[in-house]
Amino acid sequence: MNEPVEIVNQKPAQRTIRLNLNGKAVDVASAPSTRLSDVLRDELGLTGTKVGCHAGDCGACTVLLDGQQVCACITALGQCADRAITTVEGLACDGRLNRLQQAFLAHGAAQCGICTPGMLMAASDVLRRHPDPTEQQVQDGLGGVLCRCTGYRKIIEAVLAVAHGEFDLPQPAAGQAVGARLARLDGRAKITGAEKFGADQYPPDCLWLRTVRSPHARATFTLGDLDAFKRRHPQVLAVLSAKDVPENSFSVFPEPKDQPVLADKHVRMRGEAVLLIVGAEDAVKSIAESDIPISWQPEAALDSSEKALSATGDLLHDFAPENVLCRGRVVKGDFETSLRNSAFVAEDEYRTGYVEHAYIEPEAGYAEVFAEHGEQRIRVFACTQTPVMDRDEVARVLQLPKHAVHIVPSAIGGGFGGKLDVSIQPLLAVAAWHLQRPVRTVYSRMESMQSTTKRHPSRIRARYGCDAQGHLTALDFHGDFNTGAYASWGATVANRVPVHSTGPYFVPHLRSLTRAVFTNNAISGAFRGFGVPQAHIVTEALLDELAEKVGIDKLEFRIKNAIRVGQATATGQVLTASVGMLQCLEVLRPAWQAAQAMVLAFNTEARASAGASRRGIGIASMWYGIGNTVIANPSTMTGALRRNGRLILYNGAQEIGQGSGTVMPQIFADAVGLPVALVDQVMGDTDLTEDAGKSSASRQTFVSGNAARFAGEDIRQQLLHRLGLGADARLSVAGTVLSGVERGVERHLDLSTLPANDQGDVVAGRGYFNPPTVPLDANGQGAPYATYGFAAQLAEVEVDIELGTVKVLHIHAAHDVGRAVNPTQVEGQIHGGVAQGLGMALMEEYISGRTDNLHDYMIPTAGDIPPITVHIIKDSEPLGPYGAKGVGEPALIATAPAILNAIHDAVGVRVRQIPATPDRLRLALLARSSQHGKR
Ligand code: FES
Ligand code: FES
Repeated sequence: MNEPVEIVNQKPAQRTIRLNLNGKAVDVASAPSTRLSDVLRDELGLTGTKVGCHAGDCGACTVLLDGQQVCACITALGQCADRAITTVEGLACDGRLNRLQQAFLAHGAAQCGICTPGMLMAASDVLRRHPDPTEQQVQDGLGGVLCRCTGYRKIIEAVLAVAHGEFDLPQPAAGQAVGARLARLDGRAKITGAEKFGADQYPPDCLWLRTVRSPHARATFTLGDLDAFKRRHPQVLAVLSAKDVPENSFSVFPEPKDQPVLADKHVRMRGEAVLLIVGAEDAVKSIAESDIPISWQPEAALDSSEKALSATGDLLHDFAPENVLCRGRVVKGDFETSLRNSAFVAEDEYRTGYVEHAYIEPEAGYAEVFAEHGEQRIRVFACTQTPVMDRDEVARVLQLPKHAVHIVPSAIGGGFGGKLDVSIQPLLAVAAWHLQRPVRTVYSRMESMQSTTKRHPSRIRARYGCDAQGHLTALDFHGDFNTGAYASWGATVANRVPVHSTGPYFVPHLRSLTRAVFTNNAISGAFRGFGVPQAHIVTEALLDELAEKVGIDKLEFRIKNAIRVGQATATGQVLTASVGMLQCLEVLRPAWQAAQAMVLAFNTEARASAGASRRGIGIASMWYGIGNTVIANPSTMTGALRRNGRLILYNGAQEIGQGSGTVMPQIFADAVGLPVALVDQVMGDTDLTEDAGKSSASRQTFVSGNAARFAGEDIRQQLLHRLGLGADARLSVAGTVLSGVERGVERHLDLSTLPANDQGDVVAGRGYFNPPTVPLDANGQGAPYATYGFAAQLAEVEVDIELGTVKVLHIHAAHDVGRAVNPTQVEGQIHGGVAQGLGMALMEEYISGRTDNLHDYMIPTAGDIPPITVHIIKDSEPLGPYGAKGVGEPALIATAPAILNAIHDAVGVRVRQIPATPDRLRLALLARSSQHGKR
């Protein structure tokens, strides 16, 4: 074990600068050039101000300087001398939320909450300038702060509401929590800046970890004299390489464990971790890259699926012949004969690029070694969507028993699938275990974007057929998905896509084949939809083409083919309940007809006046299997009633902004039959909660919601038994006294008199749910999911034919969610999904080395998001908790195809390389013009 050494951070020349901070005079002794965000967070402990990019791009660090919004990360301390600074911590007065904060809470304007402090400060600036602002003024004023979760609509609603009326914060009575618009239970922490994200908390004597990464997509490397390097940098306590990692591999599945914690002599992607440098923060950060003793020998990279598939014998991994990680296959009936006999066939090929999660919180956290019951353990505090998998992978890497690892999830500033893989966890653990000292890190924005997973780029070719009446007959679908350098969730994408490739339609014959292909590109992993959004872009375009060929309205064509109860899916699974596809489409009919009339009138006028704008409308449907594809998908939740009269839910369904920290208590409370206001929670801590599975695949409401319900019902049964009452009894708690009433019989139990465990739990319950599925056979036939979500979305767009730009005017989104446990949160998920779908359709493309920052990688801002009309369809799922299914991923899938279909409707061309950026759309328009000219 290393002896502690004194760490001396190297600071530039300091002087004392006085700030008027949140109404108080504060003297800060720092260099005038210090970033204001660093002063606030590191020196004054005001971690409510967040840092997402350190470059003025994301706005998470927004504070008020003399009342005006500024980015604290690009504001020097010296600029703030004797000026008034307001941070999120200064908004509430004597613990009372101000009106803006109340509005955020009531409208569900915070999801993950990482952007929320910056949003609140920007909104404060808007309201100072415009006490009763217009929507445009709000959108303009919030334009500098990025939010990746909410789609901005609820934020805009909240700001507009400040000037008007009171804010409704329902407190549902016993048995009425499910279906209520309950404010997020963690909402107050998010809107006061009290929430602790990965970078916000660490032990006082923490060392800093810097990861040295490959600048090359493919290379071999040799390490130089690391001892000499350490002697040159006495503040560096350790330089760790592959040989220092006990088990140097990890991945999300048991096989293959193909990703090294630290690369050993050879790298397969730009940004791959090679070396860890650990020591005093400032010293470690200030080491020049050129001073790190590594020599690189770059090699020709297989940087596309095409190259990797044709690189005979040149393999990224020995276990993957032809560089194919996995093949997916679903075959039903005789697609060839059926296509040959179809009255109409539409065929096309599309490509989509890498899409970055662009969560506003870069990966951050710390690890520390501690002793407990005579045993050494390690604790990792970090952002994660999957605490139990983190525990297992850290234990495996360190070669420790699982119980020696304690994962404490931080609040998560957005995940969307990108925090389903371990990232910083093994790096921190290896360093902390080696040094026996706490170690922390925060990824830079570029490091986060280069080294973590993305949405799979795809190349999909498909043929879709229908008969003369417009009934779909057959589909032939081939998709290659670039899974990058390591497996991550590539197998999941390859297997999920063929199941969903038909879209939510009855199709009697199909062949659907996919490949996940290894390349020397960024790792593709899980991202909201697991490949299904890419597939729907293609098939929904082909559906439009078929409808045109048949001469049927595109909405009616989809209604004709929408899958119904009693019909079989592509995998032969006969759907028996909760198939709300038809309702989703039918509820959009009035908006569809009105939009058609609007478009006709607009375009007639535009042509007459030789205007450059054309409008169009597009529709797309989607379906999505809830939970993992076939593989076991269980969740276990536990809870208790405590001596103090409060309920506790040990909730392992990790909250990532999607609302599981509120929805689970709603379900749990109703199952017990007591008010949700009585519920406290422990979230995600692997010592205290059981395995609720990953927060992915839209599974938590359906799977863990059931587990929470069963845990609640277990407690209720025990309480009724103790009270000697029957199933219909009404329960209540006053102080520590539990009461039950049934048909005039009243019983009481003083909980404080009962024996309790160490936590004070007197009656404990447990719930377990694993959704029933049937494995897929060699032709992909079986029942891969217990239930499906369905949706249809309608997009209205305006295209500038001279610039190739697209403005989305309105989205109408109809979603069958079974039942909305919390309608505000369901709407928020749909808004957020629409915003991500809009970004995917029009602007988002990750190119390593070019768009690995939030300046060049464009995500929608508040000004890009149109009004979104949400229709929640409630087609109750008998297996779901109180009828609920999930909505996280379904929210996004239909948006991009609806927008792309609307562009085609507006200008008659299709962009087949997605996103449809202005240059690509303009090229397509020019190509069409030149073809017309030739004719
Ligand atoms: S952290 Fe300051 S703008 Fe992103
Ligand atoms: S709530 Fe805005 S980024 Fe998550």
